[in-house]
Amino acid sequence: MTDAMLDIRNLNKKFGGLAIFSDLNLRVEPGELRCIIGPNGAGKTTLFNLITGRLRSDSGEIRFEDRDICRKSVHEITRLGIGRKFQAPAVFEEMTVWDNLIVAGTGHRAAFRLFTTRLDSSLAARAERVLESVRLSARRNDLAGSLSHGQKQWLEIGIVMLNDPRLVLLDEPTAGMTVSETAETADLIQQVFKDRTAIIIEHDISFVRRLKGRVTVLNRGGVMKEGSFEEIAADPAVRKVYLGEEV
Ligand SMILES: Nc1ncnc2c1ncn2[C@@H]1O[C@H](COP(=O)(O)OP(=O)(O)OP(=O)(O)O)[C@@H](O)[C@H]1O
Ligand SMILES: [Mg+2]
Repeated sequence: MTDAMLDIRNLNKKFGGLAIFSDLNLRVEPGELRCIIGPNGAGKTTLFNLITGRLRSDSGEIRFEDRDICRKSVHEITRLGIGRKFQAPAVFEEMTVWDNLIVAGTGHRAAFRLFTTRLDSSLAARAERVLESVRLSARRNDLAGSLSHGQKQWLEIGIVMLNDPRLVLLDEPTAGMTVSETAETADLIQQVFKDRTAIIIEHDISFVRRLKGRVTVLNRGGVMKEGSFEEIAADPAVRKVYLGEEV
């Protein structure tokens, strides 16, 4: 078996007396677009917090490209190549789309020098590529605050991609989007992550179906089911706890 991009083994996490994960096992291969679904409170966001070092597990292993990252800091884990987009859009509304990318690429501490120093040409080239891939080239000089809700989410995906992470975690990238924005976002994500690896938490079943990746269902402290969308959708237990009769 080739090395996994992410390999989680026997992960345990409790909040107070409540077990969120009991011996969770999850393996994601390089190049996958993995969707994670599960009822509210199943622990999906907590899983991202554990992977990115914001929370510590009680026991178990989290390996990224065969390196144990369990005790590493948020900063170290980012530097190793894991990028994350949070659920709520957090772009700088009063800055242009382009400047949002440049600030993200420069780092916040250096941001105050933004307009006085010459732009690093490799950063400009990366920002240009990213802008194109998240379909915002035409909006580069517009204030981020003038973008639609969907476009703000795309800009955030762009900000995450700027540092070229090898594994990207997206928490509900289509939350609050219209039906057509959701469909376009599925298409955009498929293109952006063509040669990359991403784990996407998502509630929108039409999005999960469109993405065509493997799906993991989290429930009651562990993986309830894993498989193609069709396999997941056909499983009576999954339908009962999560999908209802939407599928
Ligand atoms: N830092 C924390 N301290 C204590 N309890 C927490 C903490 N973070 C999350 N929880 C609890 O753990 C459970 C799982 O939360 P989590 O946010 O991971 O769920 P989720 O699957 O992302 O849900 P949703 O679909 O609503 O986003 C919830 O009961 C939540 O209240
Ligand atoms: Mg969540």
